[in-house]
Amino acid sequence: MSGNITFTMIKPCAVSDGHIGQILAQINKAGFRIVAMKLTKLRKGEAEAFYSIHRERPFYNELVEFMSSSPIVAAVLEKENAVVEYRKLIGSTDPAKADEGTIRKLYAQSIQNNAVHGSDSDDNAEIESGFFFSMGERFNKKGAVGLQ
Ligand code: CMP
Repeated sequence: MSGNITFTMIKPCAVSDGHIGQILAQINKAGFRIVAMKLTKLRKGEAEAFYSIHRERPFYNELVEFMSSSPIVAAVLEKENAVVEYRKLIGSTDPAKADEGTIRKLYAQSIQNNAVHGSDSDDNAEIESGFFFSMGERFNKKGAVGLQ
């Protein structure tokens, strides 16, 4: 069964380009609720751990440097079938292949500096959300998720 949360980061490129507001507006307009959110900066070790699944890839070291270079926005988003719906909203990893109107088409600079991250499965959505937020820092319509 599909889950109802996904995890996103607005990456350093889009934060420093001043696109936080426009990206969040697009997320809200597409019907996602913000369950948790923070502006933060990844330490190098945190970026290494977050992207450890890619550690054998040729772009890994550069990706880690980029993701820990300046602040990001981390957020947990809620919507029915959230992982799939959010991946449609952000578009292909490579902005050159992303559909018109998608977040990456609008705001990405390159395949690495691609504006936003989105979880690729329900399991990873939970793992990645837990990387940044405790249950007490996540809020649905009934209040703190950790207290329900
Ligand atoms: P993301 O969705 O966060 O997941 C892994 C990230 O690795 C991806 O977005 C890009 O930032 C980066 N990435 C993926 N493929 C490449 C590539 N071919 N060259 C450089 N960076 C890449």
